Amino acid sequence: MLPVNRPQDCCYYDERLRMTPTIDPNRLWQSLMDMAEIGPTPEGGSCRLALTPEDAAARALFLRWCQPLALRHQQDAIGNMFLRRPGSDTAAPAVAFGSHLDTVPTGGRFDGIVGVLAGLEVLRALHEAGVTTKAPLELVNWMNEEGSRFRPAMMGSRVAAGELPLAAALAITDDDGVSVGRALADSGQAGPLAPAPRDWSAWLELHIEQGPVMEATGVEIGIVVGTMHARYFQLTITGEPSHVGPTEMNRRHDSLAAAAEVILAVEQIALAAEPNGRASTSWIVNTPNARGNVPHITRLHCDVRHNSADTAIEMETSLRQAMSDIAQRRGVRIDIDPYATFGPIVFDIGLGALLHRKAADRQLSTRDMIAAAGHDSMLMAPLVPSAMLFIPSVAGITHNPKEFSTKQQVAHGAQLLLDAVLELAQH
Ligand code: GLV
Ligand code: MN
Ligand code: MN
Repeated sequence: MLPVNRPQDCCYYDERLRMTPTIDPNRLWQSLMDMAEIGPTPEGGSCRLALTPEDAAARALFLRWCQPLALRHQQDAIGNMFLRRPGSDTAAPAVAFGSHLDTVPTGGRFDGIVGVLAGLEVLRALHEAGVTTKAPLELVNWMNEEGSRFRPAMMGSRVAAGELPLAAALAITDDDGVSVGRALADSGQAGPLAPAPRDWSAWLELHIEQGPVMEATGVEIGIVVGTMHARYFQLTITGEPSHVGPTEMNRRHDSLAAAAEVILAVEQIALAAEPNGRASTSWIVNTPNARGNVPHITRLHCDVRHNSADTAIEMETSLRQAMSDIAQRRGVRIDIDPYATFGPIVFDIGLGALLHRKAADRQLSTRDMIAAAGHDSMLMAPLVPSAMLFIPSVAGITHNPKEFSTKQQVAHGAQLLLDAVLELAQH
């Protein structure tokens, strides 16, 4: 039998968190707020692009917090961090959980971070309660989930899953020409372990919803049953250099003007696929980007995504058709590099049922959800029974300093993670 405690902190009380072992909502909240001070942005968010000094500082703080818990720290050559708590059965595969500490440039305090720090809180609570699970537990911080600095997103989990060869990942460069390999070395994050699938019995990721559905429906926990299918592209539009004055309008081959049409076509493709279609152009580099020059090379990154993989593929077909029309009409060339995809994933049904049951034990309301954003769990799902749980995002705001979930919402998610981990690790 596990010991029965009262919540230690009088400043926070929720009847539903009375059964033990219990996470400490205030300690978890404070860790989230302390982590947000690394790479702070003026509007109250965080900017910790992968393998920058800010990311390295976040990782160091995380390791400092892990220190009193006597965990075994392992790190692989792509910078994924694994913190292992031994179980009583040394032969049992581990129950694993976590997320990512890197952010987008306009990052908030919760996306990814809540999954890692709630995992830390699970380990802290077990440590405090003196509970040894049968199976070992493993807490993970994946490298470069966001893909803001180095594309593609979910890079660390992609490499660990064998979807992206390590050598290819190490050679990828950021917009300043710095390679992943160089950045790993400079930030001290290249570990000795060969990236590979690990010996896990289950993978769980707690994440914020990043959308408005849970708040609108008053649901406390989202059980993620599956994900959208997304297709990522780099487009290169090549025109001809010329002068912005003497060159008559009908003699120009302006790559930036063509890009403007492509960007609007991408948006139109998503609007035509509402409510479940999404498409965005999120990155642009224009050459020579000099006053006086009609631009002649413009590069874009865009993606299309939909609940239905077939529709996502049709969206790509529409994109290719629009590009071909624009290229022909404007006398430019448009090359497309479909460099990555994710999903569609169906998460483990048994784990989903376990999360529903554990939520019911805590009287937390649930609904099944489909994830529209990329997550490392998508890379784990083909390898190990995997599940994700969402907590609400206030007003659905994300990738924005205003991103917010309440202390209570975070606590509910972390407690449910602990409850699920405990059950999985005792069998
Ligand atoms: C990555 O996080 C994505 O959703 O593209
Ligand atoms: Mn995330
Ligand atoms: Mn994100």
